Amino acid sequence: MSGGLDERDKRGYAVWVSEVMLQQTRVSTVIDYFKRWMNKWPTLHHLAQASLEEVNEMWAGLGYYRRVRFLLQGAKEVVEGGGRFPETVSDLRKIKGIGEYTAGAIASIAFRKAVPVVDGNVVRVISRLKTISANPKDAATVKSFWKLAGQLVDPCRPGDFNQALMELGATLCSLSNPGCAACPISAQCHVLSLSGENELVHVTDYPTKVVKAKQRHEFSAVSVVEILNCQETMGPQSSSKYILVKRPNKGLLAGLWEFPSVLLEKEADLTSRRKAVDNYLQSSFNLDLKESTRIVSRENIGECVHVFSHIRLKMYVELLVLHAKGNRSIDYKKQGKESITWKYVDNENLGNMGLTSGVRKVYTMVQKHKQTEQSTIPGRRRKTAVRR
Ligand code: ADE
Repeated sequence: MSGGLDERDKRGYAVWVSEVMLQQTRVSTVIDYFKRWMNKWPTLHHLAQASLEEVNEMWAGLGYYRRVRFLLQGAKEVVEGGGRFPETVSDLRKIKGIGEYTAGAIASIAFRKAVPVVDGNVVRVISRLKTISANPKDAATVKSFWKLAGQLVDPCRPGDFNQALMELGATLCSLSNPGCAACPISAQCHVLSLSGENELVHVTDYPTKVVKAKQRHEFSAVSVVEILNCQETMGPQSSSKYILVKRPNKGLLAGLWEFPSVLLEKEADLTSRRKAVDNYLQSSFNLDLKESTRIVSRENIGECVHVFSHIRLKMYVELLVLHAKGNRSIDYKKQGKESITWKYVDNENLGNMGLTSGVRKVYTMVQKHKQTEQSTIPGRRRKTAVRR
């Protein structure tokens, strides 16, 4: 391939980043994320210097934050190992977070290795092309898809071929509405030809649909805590600020920022939710809500559902506005071995910072609620009483 060592490493890195992003969402969404990322970290060496906090923020909205954590760890690994970008599938697989798919994509697209790439879209194209009805999630079937894709890949332009196959599956050869009339490989498609001979056969019967594992239902009470007039603790210019809490460094959405929240055992009424939130704020922030002079308003904003990986989380959202008075007593408290990490963020920064989709949903609800309040109560910016 043409290009010096630097170019070669840059290409490997750029394909790596884009492929990890493309595992999350479609090409059109990835473009902006990719540009911003490459602007901030143009090479692997730049990325290796980044913090987890920074990459999480850049990734916000794409989901599956474990992938970006691994990308960062992988970058550090490569740099520590001398910085040369591996180019074969077996060497790429040694890097943290690089699986069969990413290795195949980097090797073929960046380094012209004649190796296959199989994602869900490729599975759909191949299963239709070859009339494969076996369960596509089954390990043996997955293996056979990789083998077939390996036989199909164009040795002269493997990267272009693999990307064309993925894109065909992502667009024309769609799950429920394939555009067979416009498909460039319709003449080779076995299912399409069978469907012309037998009315019981449909292109959309392939690949075989697999019943998804059931989602786990979870419920949480989210308290968007807004502190008014925080001059005392945050400088003379500051107006209101929100509390954000950092999730634990292990587990789901590790290390990401969110509004204070409590996981509930099941659906809960307003009284039980408030009790749970009160206990949490008391035990984690030393915040005593019985001290009624501190509460400016407390409103139930509504509910929203956020689905991520296998969890369907229903969030009950409240907006709790507090006086800054006595603000110094808001402080984290040691909880067993774990301490809570939290910070104040003002409106502007909250709007600009990378937030997970779930947190953004909640924030948007609060913003909309405030706008409605302002337009329906002329001349009144803030309620002074607790409203239920
Ligand atoms: N669609 C087109 N090109 C792609 C790529 N490189 N990875 C994933 N999907 C794609």
